[in-house]
Amino acid sequence: MTTNEQSRTQWLGRWGFVLAATGSAVGLGNIWKFPYMTGEYGGGAFVLVYLVCILSVGVPVMMTEIALGRRGRGSPIDAIRRVVTESGRTSAWSLLGWMAMACGFMILCFYVVVAGWSFAYLWKMLSGGLAGSSVDDMAAIFGANNANPFSLGAWSTLVTVATMVIVGKGVQGGIEKSVGWMMPGMVVMLLIMIAYGMFSGGFGDALHFLFAFNAASLSSEGMLAAMGHAFFTLSLASGAILTYGSYLPRHASIGRTTLTVAVADTLVALMAGLAIFPVIFANGMEPNSGPGLIFMSLPLAFQAMPLGTLFGILFFIMLSMAALTSSISMVEATVSWLTDNKGISRRAASWGTGIVLWLVSTLAMLSFNIGADWTLAGKHFFDWLDFLTSRLMMPLGGLGMVLLGGFVLNSSVMRDELNLAPTVYALWLFMVRYVSPLGILLIFVDALEIANVDFASQWPVLLLVLAVITVIGELASPRLRQSLVAKS
Ligand code: PFF
Repeated sequence: MTTNEQSRTQWLGRWGFVLAATGSAVGLGNIWKFPYMTGEYGGGAFVLVYLVCILSVGVPVMMTEIALGRRGRGSPIDAIRRVVTESGRTSAWSLLGWMAMACGFMILCFYVVVAGWSFAYLWKMLSGGLAGSSVDDMAAIFGANNANPFSLGAWSTLVTVATMVIVGKGVQGGIEKSVGWMMPGMVVMLLIMIAYGMFSGGFGDALHFLFAFNAASLSSEGMLAAMGHAFFTLSLASGAILTYGSYLPRHASIGRTTLTVAVADTLVALMAGLAIFPVIFANGMEPNSGPGLIFMSLPLAFQAMPLGTLFGILFFIMLSMAALTSSISMVEATVSWLTDNKGISRRAASWGTGIVLWLVSTLAMLSFNIGADWTLAGKHFFDWLDFLTSRLMMPLGGLGMVLLGGFVLNSSVMRDELNLAPTVYALWLFMVRYVSPLGILLIFVDALEIANVDFASQWPVLLLVLAVITVIGELASPRLRQSLVAKS
């Protein structure tokens, strides 16, 4: 056991990591983004592709990140530096840690604005500020909410302060304690909402929409969006999972823990769909209204239903809690790095980070009102933060992580840390070496508009490419065979 191993805080309870990592994974991505993406990309076929992406890319990348964090026992930068040094590789790989840490922080800068919407809508539900009789009325309320920089700023400031207070209290006393009641509370509220949906009259339509497979609605765009969302929803390549992994006790099984988190995250996304779409369908609304789905269509639907206000309040409490358990994970990497390297207390590190966060997020918030004209290449600051993180930094970071775990480190490092049965280990290695990198490269081809390929119809070509790179890769690196033969 290294000195670092002894001195690093660890999760207190058996479920500490699982709850915290699930709290990180389950957030606006599940309750806000997943349902509207499913609506936009045509329902069941999108859901199926999303599940494939979670299993083939999300799970292997998450296992790699947790293993890197636990092996290196530090923030992404320190952990990666230690792990590569142990394998005798260049410490330039710690740049990957820098990028992950920056990515988590940048996501948070726009995430607090969206989380602020959720708190604002909770308040509107409580105070009766959502009276409107058409989608246009609701759009006007949403517009007015964004047009006032002071109130919009106040809500995102509230989220920033709440996040920093929790993180400032530490891993066990702040993060673990808060997720310990917020996560179960959220699931209970979600179940109540689903039960409500069952009696709303739109449940059958919702089930059909979410689970009926219609190959014709499968587009390349939808497939790539599913892949990108797999990264976002599992909080990958943003420092969150790696840092949480650095507090994971040595005896915990990374494979089992990762599967638990991924399954829980997916279940919550599907459950959110089962809570939202029945209400939408029961009121004869369209599922494809985009990002406004839960801020415009849903509140309107609630108004028309018995006990709708009560359930609207429950819904926005749930959304706000889901957002908070994610936002705390996005700054943990930065706070952990500052306390480990700059000799300052956790509280000082949290408040220092909070001030910078507040400044940058205020700039993002202004994109909706006085900064509406401040655009670069047609995008606002808010959109740039989203584009840079979701479309570039997360996939690039994910690529770096899998190449690091799959090819760069000595094979004993990952094999010891993951401690899997030989065949499962071989499967993980195949995924991180070939399947995940190929999937990620496709995101880039699309995001950078390098080529306009219809991936949906070209899957035989993709399988061929996968086979070719696997053969080339294994000829170049004989380690997969060794690992199959060697005892794990
Ligand atoms: N997984 C979160 C969600 O689905 O809302 C978003 C997220 C959290 C992204 C933490 C990145 C991160 F580090």
